[in-house]
Amino acid sequence: MSISEKSVSEKFGRVYHGSDYNPEQWPCAVWPEDFRLMQEAGISAVAVGVFSWVSLQPAEDKFTFDWLDEIMDGLATHGIKAMLATPSAAQPAWMSQHYPTILRSDEQGIRRQRGGRTNYCPNSPDYRRLSGNMARALAERYKDHPALLLWHISNEYAGTCTCETCAARFREWLQRNYGTLDAMNARWWTPFWSHTFTDWSQVMPPLSNGEMHMHGLNVDYFRFMTESQLACYTNERDIIRAITPDVPITTNLMGTYKPLDYRQWAKEMDIITWDCYPSPGQSAGEIAFQHDLHRGLKDGQSFLLMEQTPSSQNWQPVNALKRPGVLRLWSYLAMAHGADSISYFQWRRGRGGSEKLHGAVIEHSGRSDTRVFREVSQIGAELKALGDVVLGARGDAKVGLLFDWDNWHALDDAIGPVRNKRYVDTIRKHYLAFYRQNIPVDIVFPDSDFSRYDILVAPMLYMVKQGVAERIEAMVRKGGTFVTTYFSGIVDETDLAFENGYPGPLHNVLGIHVEEIDAMYENQSNSMVMSDGSGSYACNHLADLLHTESAHVLATYGSDFYQGMPALTKNAFGQGHAYYLASDPDPALLDTLYAGMLNEHRIEPPMHTPPGVEVTVRRKGEQALLFMLNHNAEAVTLHLGAHTYRDLLTNATLQGQIEVAGYGVHILVAHA
Ligand code: GLA
Ligand code: ZN
Repeated sequence: MSISEKSVSEKFGRVYHGSDYNPEQWPCAVWPEDFRLMQEAGISAVAVGVFSWVSLQPAEDKFTFDWLDEIMDGLATHGIKAMLATPSAAQPAWMSQHYPTILRSDEQGIRRQRGGRTNYCPNSPDYRRLSGNMARALAERYKDHPALLLWHISNEYAGTCTCETCAARFREWLQRNYGTLDAMNARWWTPFWSHTFTDWSQVMPPLSNGEMHMHGLNVDYFRFMTESQLACYTNERDIIRAITPDVPITTNLMGTYKPLDYRQWAKEMDIITWDCYPSPGQSAGEIAFQHDLHRGLKDGQSFLLMEQTPSSQNWQPVNALKRPGVLRLWSYLAMAHGADSISYFQWRRGRGGSEKLHGAVIEHSGRSDTRVFREVSQIGAELKALGDVVLGARGDAKVGLLFDWDNWHALDDAIGPVRNKRYVDTIRKHYLAFYRQNIPVDIVFPDSDFSRYDILVAPMLYMVKQGVAERIEAMVRKGGTFVTTYFSGIVDETDLAFENGYPGPLHNVLGIHVEEIDAMYENQSNSMVMSDGSGSYACNHLADLLHTESAHVLATYGSDFYQGMPALTKNAFGQGHAYYLASDPDPALLDTLYAGMLNEHRIEPPMHTPPGVEVTVRRKGEQALLFMLNHNAEAVTLHLGAHTYRDLLTNATLQGQIEVAGYGVHILVAHA
């Protein structure tokens, strides 16, 4: 169930500039000052109510909405919207005191103590009922409030539970999915180590003090937990939807967060929102990858950036400040890759609690004459001036990059041939080869429409689900280019190895078969020697020893006992081609390989730029918006070619040779 509009944010009519706001942590005397400063900083929407459960419901039969009434009214008076949260991400102490089984159990199956957050059992009937009641009470109270913009359900759903309630629900889930114990035993290869189940009641969740390595069970438990957590979301959503059918509903996601398959979540969300907290040292391209992942979740629909720190995080080992200009640059980086709003965590630094040293728009000093406040205010003014021009604008990628949570789980879970599988790193590495050339990439999933792409890249496609190979074949047959790598086509959806060897169902399209897989230590490498004499590239991690059937060889290994065996192959299939990279190469090989493919498909970057300068396009109708982002600290000179552009941020006309400031941003539209 999802509201019918194509893109929720298009209806907003403006790019919202927002922040998490937790007014219940302060006396009400502070609130008028909050509103005044929000207006000054151009804050137009706040996420309010996240984690406010005890302030809204101090006892099961007692609701206290007066403070939130005052906040909602104050927001409305000041022209600020509410992304109204349900508080269900952290439960009040009274709740687990009355209903102890509401608490989660850990990886040993031991019930956790009260406290923390996301500490509820997602299958607890008490949790579902109480969070549902709270959602209903909020929706009833604020359904007609002028400040209400959207519903922000809970916060960053996370983790897993192993309690007896979850175990019981899991057994039912298995019965529904497998029908019979025999079928399940067969799919899980249970005669191994005498693991055959003779009664459903014997099945347990994966436990660190029990069974951790039944791979079919593990991947099923991940799927079951994704569904269990999602059911908490849809439980609240359905209650709210019935009361406010026209108000969009979302929850904030976390990028490549392994425990939850967000592709499944996207189907239940009206609009994607996510929280962007780059790890120390992450590059702009790595951040762009995460944005593109979220844009891909709903097949290219724009999303809302729900959280980012305005200055520093506090939960990394070292929490560096964003350098002057970087907050603005990264806000537009998000927008370039599909964000239709920009928000922060948090508005005001709490005086206590574990996030008292986390960056905020207003720090403990309470002052607004600060660098951060000035930078936030500048963004606020710019976003206001932008109006609705970017809303709903889409990318136009002809390259798809396949990512799959089930594959990630199964791959990491597999014992051998190397411990660290580097799945996300590998996906990102291929992504960056395109990013460096200003070539847009869509992140796609096994159920995506591959036929939209000229080039489809599926690194480490260890698990090949039913029907996927056929759809890859169809895409290649019609002239597409498919690329996959070592350690692909090994298992089916329940982690059973394919009986016809590797690359399993990808065998036909690739025209090869893999005989053995070698693994290398971190400091070891081999090389890929290009057969056309153009050079050689180091490679490492894993090395498939393969034989070509219909494919021809583009590179061979340079050393070891498999020197001379194929390391890179290309197979003509229908009108198209399929490539197999047998080892993990130096990025320079990917640059060359992909440049050739892009050339064949006549895919051009929107602009050729110096290193560190990105140009990314979003299109709406006939209009193309060029986001020009200088990720270098120093200014660079750029040639705009023959076109004349208008910069939406300054209204200046730009042509010929221009200088882009260090961390500078331009949003260009071509003059008619
Ligand atoms: C997450 C949460 C916030 C806050 C920030 C801190 O994104 O949603 O409540 O804890 O992290 O970075
Ligand atoms: Zn549980």
